[in-house]
Amino acid sequence: MLVTDNLWLVPCLLIFLFIACSIIYSSLRLGISPMPSSKKAYLAMLALADEANINTIIDLGSGWGNFIIAMAQKAPAKEIIGYELSILPWLYTKALIKFYRINNITLYRQDFYQVKLPKSAVLVCYLYPQAMQKLAEKLTLENDTSGFLISNNFALPSWQVCKMIRLDDFYNSPIYLYRLAK
Ligand SMILES: C[S@@+](CC[C@H](N)C(=O)[O-])C[C@H]1O[C@@H](n2cnc3c(N)ncnc32)[C@H](O)[C@@H]1O
Repeated sequence: MLVTDNLWLVPCLLIFLFIACSIIYSSLRLGISPMPSSKKAYLAMLALADEANINTIIDLGSGWGNFIIAMAQKAPAKEIIGYELSILPWLYTKALIKFYRINNITLYRQDFYQVKLPKSAVLVCYLYPQAMQKLAEKLTLENDTSGFLISNNFALPSWQVCKMIRLDDFYNSPIYLYRLAK
C-alpha cells in the first residue's frame, strides 16, 4: 500500500488533536471538563427548575447544552441563559440552537463569576467543590438575587439546603435546591 493512500488520515488526525487539546486546555484552565449531567440528573433539574415558577433560568457552565436545550424545549415561554467559556462546547451548543431553531436561549461565552446576575432567576450548575465555594461567595456578596439554585452533585458551602433529591443511580447522587433570598 502506498503512503499517499492514507493521506486523508492526516487532516482527521489534526482535527482530532485540535479537539482534544482545546478540551484539555479549557478543562485545566476552568478546573472542570464539559462532562454533561446524566440523563437522570438533568431530568430532575428540569422538573425542579420548571416547578420554581420563575421566568429566567440560567445554566452556570452550560457545557454541550444538554440542559439548556432540553429546558428551552420543555418551557418555550421561559428565558433560558447559558454561560460557557470552553470554545468547542460553546460552538456546538450555538450550532444546536440554530439547528433546532430555538429562540428562547441566549448563550454567552463569558465567565459567569464576572456577570451581574438578574434580580430573579433559577440558577443551575454542575461544577466542583472549589467552584461551589467561589459561587457561594459571589451569591453572598451579590445578595440582591432572589430565586433558586439547583446544583447537581455538589453542595453550596454555608448555605441552608431547601430540598435534596437522591437520584436512583449507582452513587445515589444528590441534587440540591437552595432558596436565594433577598
Ligand atoms: C460539568 S460541565 C456541566 C455542563 C452542564 N451544565 C450540564 O449539567 O450538563 C461544567 C461546565 O462549566 C464550564 N465552566 C466552568 N467554569 C466556568 C466559568 N467560570 N464560566 C463559564 N463556564 C464555566 C466548563 O467549561 C464546563 O463546560
